[in-house]
Amino acid sequence: MGYVGPQEAAPIIMDGLKRLEYRGYDSAGIAISDGSIRVSKAEGKIVNLEVLLEAEPLAGHIGIGHTRWATHGPPSDANAHPHSDPSGEFVVVHNGIIENFQDIKDELAAHGSEFTSETDTELLAHLVAREYDGDLADAVRKTVALSEGAYAMVVMSSREPEKIIAVRKISPLVIGLGEGETFLASDIPAVLHHTRDFLIIEDDEMVIVTAEGASVETIDGEPIDREITHIDWDAEQAEKGGYEHFMLKEIYEQPEVITETLAGRLSEDGTVWLEDVVFDDAYIAELERVWITACGTAYHAGLIGQEIFRRILRIPANVEYAHELRYADPIIGPRELLIAISQSGETADTLAAARIAPDHGSRMLSVTNVVGSTLSRYADDILYTRAGPEISVASTKAYMAMLIAQYLLVLRLGAARGTVDEARARAVAHGLHSMPAAIEEVLRREDEVVAAAERIVDADDVYFIGRGLDYAIAMEGSLKLKEISYLHSEAMPAGELKHGTLALITEGVPVVAIITQRSVYGKTISAIQEVKARGGYVIAVAYDTDTEIERHADMVLRIPDMDDLLAPVAAVVPLQLLAYHVARLRGHDIDQPRNLAKSVTVE
Ligand code: AGP
Repeated sequence: MGYVGPQEAAPIIMDGLKRLEYRGYDSAGIAISDGSIRVSKAEGKIVNLEVLLEAEPLAGHIGIGHTRWATHGPPSDANAHPHSDPSGEFVVVHNGIIENFQDIKDELAAHGSEFTSETDTELLAHLVAREYDGDLADAVRKTVALSEGAYAMVVMSSREPEKIIAVRKISPLVIGLGEGETFLASDIPAVLHHTRDFLIIEDDEMVIVTAEGASVETIDGEPIDREITHIDWDAEQAEKGGYEHFMLKEIYEQPEVITETLAGRLSEDGTVWLEDVVFDDAYIAELERVWITACGTAYHAGLIGQEIFRRILRIPANVEYAHELRYADPIIGPRELLIAISQSGETADTLAAARIAPDHGSRMLSVTNVVGSTLSRYADDILYTRAGPEISVASTKAYMAMLIAQYLLVLRLGAARGTVDEARARAVAHGLHSMPAAIEEVLRREDEVVAAAERIVDADDVYFIGRGLDYAIAMEGSLKLKEISYLHSEAMPAGELKHGTLALITEGVPVVAIITQRSVYGKTISAIQEVKARGGYVIAVAYDTDTEIERHADMVLRIPDMDDLLAPVAAVVPLQLLAYHVARLRGHDIDQPRNLAKSVTVE
């Protein structure tokens, strides 16, 4: 959030931060300039920062502020933004991730720089100060050229005290235009009560903001004539970025989430760096088994993990519900790795199951979305999913990030164990890097999913079937549907249908068949034929290239053709949309389904 104009900046910025507060954060800070810059910041809720500002108000007509969702370094006063260079003349706030963080840090340290935080953002402040030669915009340009990643950054300097400079590389950024005052924010609702006229900044663009307005240019300094966007949304619509619900917004954020989760971790040739996974190759070489534990949607992500760990590493892998594992008295050896997956990092059952690892002398690796969460503090190794705050109770983008995190992990382990050769690693890396575009393509086909939702909205029961990785996706599709549409649903391996559930398949009963795994294609077709023979209505999720499926299914939801190993990442998206649209057609409270909570912190 930023402001420049005739009013006191601090109250406007604080108000803007509070309007985005519901999205989750762990600390907050503000920098205000009245010629010289003063910074105030505090871990925890914005109210902590307000208390500081009451005791020591910051006066001035230009400023920037930020609420942080930790990526580098845990939540703390020191790690909260804004960050300054050592002189205090340059301050930066930043969303997103600087991928070459360590290289920049090493280089700055080699020249004597000392740091007051563990963040990547502080490095940006150092770089801007170092590159400054009388032109702040130029210093920011040079800093961007040195910084790889997906981010938005905002810079202010006492050397040029009338302007704020911001850059967008993937993370969102908007400029609100007032009368003799200008606002800057990561999203429209922060300033919608001040103005309805916005400049929407696109990727690889820079904007120079003054009280008189804003000039947009490319990152190379070419001017851009950006049209003003007039926003008619009400405040509630604006919070959801114009989407009807957070769940839909979060489904649409998934391509960006994949980019973020991969950022700085996966090279073109399939080499993986995982910053907080600290075990070494010798440990990996001796690994005898992988356990995965989680609940709900995170457990379904673990089902994918189980399959890919077995397939790629060729070692035993088991996924267990955390509430079961904790009382199962499992036999876990010291050479076995326990992976605990949790979006929140606070699920009581998952925390309890994760504690089993140290009792058996084995390592625990947490896959979580929340830096500094209890689960991350318990862990020996951490793999953060970088999905950003997830508001909807029904998890979508966090699940997506859990899948991507596990593919990264399996590549890392497979390389060390010699079970993934160079060609395979390169192919999987290419598939993962191509995935955001593939998901964009699936999202463009939403209308086809709406038609499927209209077909099943009045059903009493819906069944999901698939084999192998398709079964794992079937489980997640079924859970999504039941938790928000309140429609009874079950998922099972396609081969299991004939062992009982087929008795429930009668005329018109919907069966969603996920059919991407080529090695068992014919087997899933057989199950579909069993359903059709009883009059069931089959909605298939299949590749674009599958010409056979239309002869068997009543309706086909298509995904782009890809490596079968990665297909779950794309195949889950139509199922998320299906659940969403059925719930919408049934008129339910999609983001807050009855009886459910976002974080289950009781046993
Ligand atoms: C998913 O849509 C649910 N909200 C739920 O199953 C959730 O995944 C589960 O409670 C685990 O939560 P966690 O990832 O925060 O541990």
